[in-house]
Amino acid sequence: MCRSYSLSDSLCFGIDRALRALLNNPVKTGRPSPAIDAIDARLTASDRRHAAGLMRVNHTGEVCAQALYHGQHITAHSASIKQQMEHAALEEGDHLAWCAMRLAELDSHTSYLNVLWYLGSFGMGFIAGAVGDRWSLGFVAETEHQVVQHLEKHCALLPSQDKRSLCILEAMKADEKKHQQDAMHAGAAPLPPFIKQCMTFASKIMVKTAYRL
Ligand SMILES: [Fe+2]
Ligand SMILES: [Fe+2]
Repeated sequence: MCRSYSLSDSLCFGIDRALRALLNNPVKTGRPSPAIDAIDARLTASDRRHAAGLMRVNHTGEVCAQALYHGQHITAHSASIKQQMEHAALEEGDHLAWCAMRLAELDSHTSYLNVLWYLGSFGMGFIAGAVGDRWSLGFVAETEHQVVQHLEKHCALLPSQDKRSLCILEAMKADEKKHQQDAMHAGAAPLPPFIKQCMTFASKIMVKTAYRL
């Protein structure tokens, strides 16, 4: 049976999901961290700082992913696309939790700007979903494509001894690739080059700021 929700139900649900994403307790599938079996090598202070900077960027990326999918889920037109957005958001919840755990292991903090990134990304997801399902899927496909490229770069930038962070990024990359392919198979429309450039620009700002803040 398909249950319909009132506006106030949806609002409470949305606020709950946003707070959980921002407080590192996201709604997730609950898969264990891929880092669990990797050796926790001793890192030098500067390697530890660098690894923490990279993992903070990836954690903020996952906050953005949560927000995008939450926004797109609300405005999706068809039930099947709503479900697809919901499922992807759950997997992004795993990623967020894994990155938060690794940051704690590295004795570091999540970005102080995550609330701003959540709000901005939620707005983008909301608009993308409202424009239409094919465009919303196109937005997912392009976002995930850019995320895979970014993760490849970060895997190479991690200190070579930091296998725990590497295991997490490799597992995330596999999921992001799947999200991209799922969006393409569901009928993603190719985005105009200008929109792609705006997305790249926004992600560059996020990467630069989250590494330090
Ligand atoms: Fe992710
Ligand atoms: Fe993803």
